[in-house]
Amino acid sequence: MAINPAIVGKTGNIKFESPSNIALVKYWGKYGRQLPKNASISFTLQNAKSITSCKYEVLSKKQEEIQLDFRFEGKQNDAFANKISKFILSIEDIFPWVRQIKFDIQSENTFPHSTGIASSASAMSALSLCLCSIHEIVDSSLKDYYQKASFVSRLGSGSASRSIYPELALWGKHPEIKTSSNDYAIPYGDEVAEIFKTYHDDILIVSKSEKSVSSTAGHALMDSNPYAESRYKSANKNLLTLLQALKTGDLGNFIKIVEREALTLHAQMMCSDPSYILMEPNTLHMINLIRAYRKESSVPVCFTLDAGPNIHLLYPSEYSSKIEIFIQDQLLPLTENNSIIKDKVGQGPLKIED
Ligand code: PMV
Repeated sequence: MAINPAIVGKTGNIKFESPSNIALVKYWGKYGRQLPKNASISFTLQNAKSITSCKYEVLSKKQEEIQLDFRFEGKQNDAFANKISKFILSIEDIFPWVRQIKFDIQSENTFPHSTGIASSASAMSALSLCLCSIHEIVDSSLKDYYQKASFVSRLGSGSASRSIYPELALWGKHPEIKTSSNDYAIPYGDEVAEIFKTYHDDILIVSKSEKSVSSTAGHALMDSNPYAESRYKSANKNLLTLLQALKTGDLGNFIKIVEREALTLHAQMMCSDPSYILMEPNTLHMINLIRAYRKESSVPVCFTLDAGPNIHLLYPSEYSSKIEIFIQDQLLPLTENNSIIKDKVGQGPLKIED
């Protein structure tokens, strides 16, 4: 269907900032059109964000090719531009107008690009929010804007579906969670004890190098992983235990599940074919120090990992000053050039301009 001729020539600028998120129960393994093999849940972060502005002009007719100018951090970036045009074209069935728009997209991150921190969740969610807003202008209003934004984000990067909501988000159909869906994430902050909304996530950068195996390749290796089916079952079981801990404020069970999930994610990598290891010696060193510190101090601090070597240190705000000493004395010397990104549970995306 073509765009209403009355709006041909219309121009505008949509701008969103959208955060990254850190999974507590991990999504690892997918099928079909970016659908998860198990349900996952994450903290939405506050400081690690992408800021994306999307200037648009409605053209008189559909073009053969997508019309896109893209700049990342003020500079032309062909690799990213290609990825984004491919993504936008891949959702033409959802937004049939994409080839009748001239896009001028600029994006930047609040965190340095070369820190080994994945930016796909923040970048894809910021872009999807912009596209949903353009849809409302050139086509029709969306019944559930955020659900649609989560759906579209998911098609760009699975974990991006969870960045749409404040505090915590859950993605993936779970037989015991009625409103859960494989298609989009749902907000989960309301079901959670207040202490978890004060959580910090300090990201200790063990290595800034690019990962040797991408997330896409890692997900694909789950298809032939002999332990995959039991992993998907245990993830869904871990999720239920974690939800109970989140509800009741049970920090002991929270720590147990979150650390187990992180290690299980990496265990899957180690028993893939071919096997690979994304942790570095200092990742293990820090894990041992964190566990020893927790035991000796009774401070409820724990770690999680993304698909990379960096440690995410999770703890409630009230322990910040104590933990700062631990970080400075014991963990920071094990990072690459004293690199740490301090983050915490955040309030989700924000529309900046229209
Ligand atoms: O969204 P993707 O395809 O980059 O996969 C992300 C997977 C993990 O970050 C390792 C886990 C997760 O649930 O975020």
